[in-house]
Order: sequence, then C-alpha cells, then structure tokens
Amino acid sequence: MTNVLVIGSGAREHAIVWALSKSGAVGTVHAAPGNAGMAPLAVLHPSTGLTAGELLPVLRAYSISLVVIGPEVPLVAGLADDLRNEGLSVFGPGKAGAMLEGSKLHAKKFLERHGIPTAPWDLCSTMEEVLAALEKRRAPFIVKADGLAAGKGVVVASSMEEAIQAARRMIEEGILGESGRKVIVEDALEGEELTVLAVTDGQTWRMLPPSQDHKRVFDGDAGPNTGGMGAYAPVPWAGKSLLDRIQKMILEPTFLGLKAEGVPYCGILYAGLMIGPDGMPRVIEYNVRFGDPEAQVVLPLLEGDFGEMIIACCEGRLSDFSYREPLRWAADVVLASGGYPGPFEKGKIISGLDEAAKMQNFVVFHGGTALDPEGRLITSGGRVLSAVGLGNTLEEAIAKAYEGASEICFENIHFRKDIGRKAFLRGRN
Ligand code: AMP
Ligand code: GLY
Repeated sequence: MTNVLVIGSGAREHAIVWALSKSGAVGTVHAAPGNAGMAPLAVLHPSTGLTAGELLPVLRAYSISLVVIGPEVPLVAGLADDLRNEGLSVFGPGKAGAMLEGSKLHAKKFLERHGIPTAPWDLCSTMEEVLAALEKRRAPFIVKADGLAAGKGVVVASSMEEAIQAARRMIEEGILGESGRKVIVEDALEGEELTVLAVTDGQTWRMLPPSQDHKRVFDGDAGPNTGGMGAYAPVPWAGKSLLDRIQKMILEPTFLGLKAEGVPYCGILYAGLMIGPDGMPRVIEYNVRFGDPEAQVVLPLLEGDFGEMIIACCEGRLSDFSYREPLRWAADVVLASGGYPGPFEKGKIISGLDEAAKMQNFVVFHGGTALDPEGRLITSGGRVLSAVGLGNTLEEAIAKAYEGASEICFENIHFRKDIGRKAFLRGRN
C-alpha cells in the first residue's frame, strides 16, 4: 500500500483526499497544508513549507512515496520536478508541462503550432499595441494577463474604455506584477462553456466525465467572475459526437503535441472549452490540474479505484487501467461568504454539518474553513464549503445538493440557486 501526500488546502484537494481514502491501493493519506474538513481522512501537516526541501523530511518520516499536487502555483514553480529528482512519484506535470497554464502566451503558441482551435489573439506589451488589437474587435473585449494571477487575470469587458482601463492597470500600473506586464487581447468566443479533464501518463490519456462550472457569483450568470460557484457532471448536452470531436480536435493534438515536443506530462490536463453554436469546441484555456469546483463533481463519479488510477499513471501504465463510464450524476453547490469575490468577513460559526453528514448521497468538501480556539468550525475563506449531491439523474443530484445545503448555516451565507439549470437549456451535440 502506498502512502500519499496531497498538496493543497481547498475543496478540490478535500475531494482528492476523500477519493484516495476510499482506495484499496492507498495506505495513509496526508495533506499539506490541508484543511479542517480533511482531518478525519488524512494526517495534516499545516505548517510544513511547500518546497521539496521542506517536504522531504515529512515524506521520509511517514514513508510517503507518492505526492499529488492540487494547485497550479507549486506546479508552475516546478515542485513536481524537484520531488521527482528525489526519487518520489508525483501526480502533476513538471515545470515544462505546467507552462500550459503558467503562461497564456506559451499556451496560445502551443495551440497554434498544433492546429488546435482557439480564439484569434494578439500579444500586447504596450498600450499602443492594446489599442490596435482592440480596434480590430467588437465587444465584449477579452484581455488576459500572460502569467498566473489567481483567477484575476482575465477581464471580459463590455466596452472599449473598460478594456483599455483593465489593460492599463496590468501593463502600466503592474497590478498583477510581472505576470500582467504582457497581455493577450483575443476574440470573444460565443457558445457554452464546458470543462473536460483528462488524466494522462504522457503516453496515453483518458477523458474523465465532462462537467460545467458556474463562474459568476449570482443566478443567471450575473455579477463578477469567481473561482466557481458550483458545477455538475456529466453534461447531458455533451453527447458522444461532441466528445468524439473533443478527443480528435483538442485532446489528441494536445497530447501528441506535448509528446512530439518532448515535454513529459503525468497528471491532469484541464481543457476549458467554448462549444460554439456550430457544435465546434475551441480552447479558452488550459489548466494543469483538476478544476475547483469541477473535481468535487467528477471525483465522486469515477467508477473504479482512483488511487489505483493515479499509481498506474505515475508508473506509466495508464493503458492497463480500465475506465468505466459514470453511472451516476453529481452536482455541487458552493456555499460562499456573502461579499465574495469582493471583501467578506471571516470567522462565522458553521452549523448543521453533523445533520448533513447523516444524509445518503450527499457529501461536503471544505474549501475555506478553520477551527477557532474553542474547536468550533468557522469560515475562513470566500468559498467555504462544497455541498455535493449524487443521484441516478441530474435532477436528483441537484435536489440532493440543495437539500444538503439547506441543513448548513453560517451568517451571511451566499449560494446560487440555479446550479445545473444550464444543463437542460441546450440541445444535445
Ligand atoms: P479564466 O480565468 O482563464 O478561467 O477565464 C475566465 C472566464 O473568462 C472563462 O471561464 C470565460 O468565461 C471567460 N473567457 C475567457 N476567454 C474568453 C473568450 N475568448 N471568449 C469568451 N469568454 C472568455
Ligand atoms: N473552475 C475553474 C478552475 O478550476 O480553474
């Protein structure tokens, strides 16, 4: 049995810990830094630094041989390479692969080199270049910082003035640091967004059930973008012919392209897609990790042993791993602190989790929780909890998620009431 360390502290990593804890191939699960909700499932290392040098003593002391890296920042920093150099198995790409998320310019050039459909774009390093790029286009205007920006690097502007302001703040004022000094201006893509996660060992890959995020804070996709207010999976309108097109037009050229360029890649590739009114998929962005909240709906649906899949992947034998289609549906309602994604208060006492835990076909993943000095569970972040319902139909899964969410309470709680409604609005592709 393999002891595993999961790096990260969000609801995505809680879902990873939860899926690993059910695995017959996994011994003890550890998490660094982890969060309060993981405590029953994993040994937490809340104050260990996240460099290889700081992690190695923990890995050795607990005989941990496999590390799963949840968030993008350590991946882009090259943590996977550093740990592999020390002889560890790591689920997550090295620095070269992680550049697909770490630099939008790198991703755009990669897409172009391999003929993978994406929005036409211009790279701009000066305001003159920004103005020229915007003048070629119509609203909404899309301005993206080149580097990582913790979800704040993409602006969808309804007017030219707003787009210019956003670009000026990035390029001239440097509000995102060096990562925003270069920006991409690109065409707005029309259609419906779809998340496709694929697991790969660098030789072969498996598409996981497709899912859909809800990025805006309010019902009906109103208000500012967030890290994600909910998700559901699979997606009823993503039928076999669309998934076949995604395999052929997106995943195959991506993985063959990485291989041809000699970039090793073991882990998850997240393709954020826009499915046009013509049914054609185009890449909005690559991420090099599970999505949050997509992981919270995709992992509970996996038929088969997640730990075995990850181990097979790290040993380069994903082709041996048999993958079965999901039999159920899942929906995640994110319970957020009122005010998020703007300023919000922390430290609100959370109640109702014990009642919710008694429910069948319902699970809660913690994203922003902590224990106060008296040991009570309190809010400590914007996206506090993921309330995940499972069912034999999507309607059942959504109803279960809301039934569970209604048990849970904290002051100023905010959640969307329309998670999953988009699933039924579009014809099958
Ligand atoms: P990201 O932070 O990269 O996930 O992007 C945030 C959101 O911006 C995406 O999920 C889309 O909703 C939107 N977006 C980004 N690029 C485009 C585009 N070219 N066309 C339309 N929407 C876009
Ligand atoms: N759900 C969007 C992301 O994980 O980037």
